[in-house]
Amino acid sequence: MDRLKREITGSFFTPQIWVELSQKYLADVLGENWQDEYYIWDCAAGTGNLLTGLTNKNRIWASTLDRQDVDVMRDRILNGANLLESHVFQFDFLNDGFEKLPMELQEIVNNPEKRKKLVIYINPPYAEVATSRTRTGTGINKNKIEQTKIHNKYSSIVGIAMKELFAQFLVRIYAEINGCVLAEFSTLKALSGPNFLKFRKFFQTKLEKCFIIPANTFDNVKGFFPIGFKIWNTSKTMIFTKIKVNVYDKHRNLVGNKNFYSWDNKKLINHWIIETRVSNQNHENIAFLGCYGNDFLNQNIIRIQRTKEEFKEPRGTYITQGNLTKACIYYIFFTVFFCA
Ligand SMILES: C[S@@+](CC[C@H](N)C(=O)[O-])C[C@H]1O[C@@H](n2cnc3c(N)ncnc32)[C@H](O)[C@@H]1O
Repeated sequence: MDRLKREITGSFFTPQIWVELSQKYLADVLGENWQDEYYIWDCAAGTGNLLTGLTNKNRIWASTLDRQDVDVMRDRILNGANLLESHVFQFDFLNDGFEKLPMELQEIVNNPEKRKKLVIYINPPYAEVATSRTRTGTGINKNKIEQTKIHNKYSSIVGIAMKELFAQFLVRIYAEINGCVLAEFSTLKALSGPNFLKFRKFFQTKLEKCFIIPANTFDNVKGFFPIGFKIWNTSKTMIFTKIKVNVYDKHRNLVGNKNFYSWDNKKLINHWIIETRVSNQNHENIAFLGCYGNDFLNQNIIRIQRTKEEFKEPRGTYITQGNLTKACIYYIFFTVFFCA
């Protein structure tokens, strides 16, 4: 698949080291025999990469958007991939109704008791509606993303988070397959992104375990930010506030643990710096401090320029003698603290 097509459909493959590690975490949370006790459905399967290494093909389903990818999976079965041809099918998870699923899977999805034994195991597409500030995504997905049935159905409740395809997957799974185990790779926006405040109010479920890995170990992903593998138990209702996650480097060495918090209803660093504008009165402008999001995903775009006009989309505050110390603290916080 060429790069443009991949960006449209958000197809970035999971490296094999993270496939293996995620399956180890699933065994830790669900028990050694999880593959014989649970059903597994990858509903953003692509060519079935994430399902490599799984053992019980009778309990695995793989669906994806593109017919070509389904054909590749079927070819792989002919070449020994451990999947059943009748369990591999085309399904648009953000538009199709569950009546299109194979009957056996439909019976699991529609049965609240059986759903508790279903693991939805995915690396969902990453594409988002691009704004002029968006550093990932191309903007070409806007119509497709904002016109899915799931977007139309839930965006008034879940808000701006629905501009991201992965969030649409999470929302449908939570709302319509509630009770299942959801094991997914995605950024940490669902945990602490300010744009995901309404999402977190809606998506009240227990996060059992999480590890994080560098995003740039994924095919075609640039930038220094973490991707998390998260195992949610949607049969348990819980508002996310905090989790301790395991941190791995690009070679799969465990390099430590880190706490993540939602920070909901707390005052954020951008509120704090913007308030310093009041101390700027009667002082000459020294420079302009560009302030964007509140988290480490923004560490690369925080910068200081001589004037506001040097920013394509200026957001932030002038630096003057009135707020110089606080502006320095803000700048160091993003450029040193988050990079450490
Ligand atoms: C990040 S890739 C993951 C591929 C593979 N599962 C892996 O882990 O390497 C996401 C996949 O979701 C597929 N996809 C995008 N939109 C979809 C939709 N609405 N329904 C089902 N699959 C979709 C893409 O074509 C792509 O293959």
